[in-house]
Amino acid sequence: MKPRVFITRQIPENGIKMIERYYEIDLWKDQREPPKDVLLEKITDVDAIVTLVTDKVDKELLDNASKLRIITQYAVGYDNIDLEEATKRGIYVTNTPGVLTDATADLAFALLLTSARRVVEADQFVRSGEWKRSAVGWHPLMFLGYGLKGKTLGIIGFGRIGQAVARRAKGFGMKIIYYSRRRKLKAEKEIGAEYVDFETLLEESDFISLHVPFTDETHHMIGEKELKIMKPTAILINTARGPVVDTKALIKALQEGWIAGAGLDVFEEEPYYNEELFKLKNVVLAPHLGSATHEAREGMAELVAKNLIAFAKGEIPPNLVNK
Ligand code: DGY
Repeated sequence: MKPRVFITRQIPENGIKMIERYYEIDLWKDQREPPKDVLLEKITDVDAIVTLVTDKVDKELLDNASKLRIITQYAVGYDNIDLEEATKRGIYVTNTPGVLTDATADLAFALLLTSARRVVEADQFVRSGEWKRSAVGWHPLMFLGYGLKGKTLGIIGFGRIGQAVARRAKGFGMKIIYYSRRRKLKAEKEIGAEYVDFETLLEESDFISLHVPFTDETHHMIGEKELKIMKPTAILINTARGPVVDTKALIKALQEGWIAGAGLDVFEEEPYYNEELFKLKNVVLAPHLGSATHEAREGMAELVAKNLIAFAKGEIPPNLVNK
């Protein structure tokens, strides 16, 4: 008899095709996440579950999961999963590293360029008819932004994605400084980045891009104090996790000009709605699209399947995150 897996959302077909050879699949087809009571019921009867960043796998859920042996997260981040509780119960937890690095770095850079050159604001100006109404065809001072060449990019968190952003920035002639818990000598030499302490990074960067996982330690790592240290011309990019930034403080910073702008792909709650933030012209927003390319999402589906298949064959899954 095949083991059973509950997949909490439609994932790309390449993954499903691989998984169905080894598992009996229960697939949640609604685009919204399964409600808590559904998850609590489904989890009682499966050997494996495929989860997304929005599925909370907490102690209560795990208490209901007497048969569950593996949680395969369809993401590189897994802060939605209580890893300690899963490990205590001998449940494997896996993620999808590597395959979404370029997609996420591309999006961070897209937000950086879009914010620096005010592309969304300008689009709105043209689309709304305001440009036509203004009768100003071209003006030397219209929509001035910031250039990238020679500017300093501060990267917080120098793992795969942080490094991939640094490589892109090199191509634009930027100076790279980074801060991370551990110094990454090999990467820093190869890329040409300089390690600095947190405060120096905040003080010296023209652009700051966040690439840390969400943990107790990184919760509100960027708050009022940090935003006040940053340059008034600085632009903050967050494609990591929403709670790394204190949104209330960020809104104040953008309103009062402590910093020049922000590009946000992640939010403290998702989906997110906040009129105060949405009114601001100096912020560019996206609905958590870091890994949203066909290539990355198919790569993630393949990794999820590989982890599940390894488990079904009695092997150690390749992308285990349990310590
Ligand atoms: C991740 O992988 O952690 C992203 O946030 C979702 O793709």
